[in-house]
Amino acid sequence: MTSPDLPRMTRPPHAPDAASVSPAALAEPGPQFVRVAELHREPLAFVLDGRDATALAGDTVLTAILMQQRSVRHSEFSGEPRAGFCLIGACQDCWVRSEDGTRLRACSTLLAAGMRIVTRNAVVVVAANASMDPMASASPASDGVAP
Ligand code: FES
Repeated sequence: MTSPDLPRMTRPPHAPDAASVSPAALAEPGPQFVRVAELHREPLAFVLDGRDATALAGDTVLTAILMQQRSVRHSEFSGEPRAGFCLIGACQDCWVRSEDGTRLRACSTLLAAGMRIVTRNAVVVVAANASMDPMASASPASDGVAP
């Protein structure tokens, strides 16, 4: 039984399955996700790595990011791009930060209008901010949690 109110979770026939996506493919430009249903929802403006972006009301932060680019972060161990794994809030592979430093689990956080999301490594963000502000500290504090 299906409900017309539930989102369709279909994959386009040309899309590769998750097991066949290589880290090199994640580094390619362009979005990871392609929206195939629910195109009628209200647009929602947000900022991704300093750039204006648009998602749709009801999108998770993960969906909003992966509709714009191939990955949500880079592994703190290998440096490889990551695009989430479980998509249900269990694996912690989708941590991102808001510009104020708040950590967000992208797959289980609904996007809100005006959110300012950072997907780059926290050290890179601090270094970039330090280069813009000569008074900023060059040594970022670590909270021991993956960026
Ligand atoms: S993708 Fe696994 S916790 Fe978000």
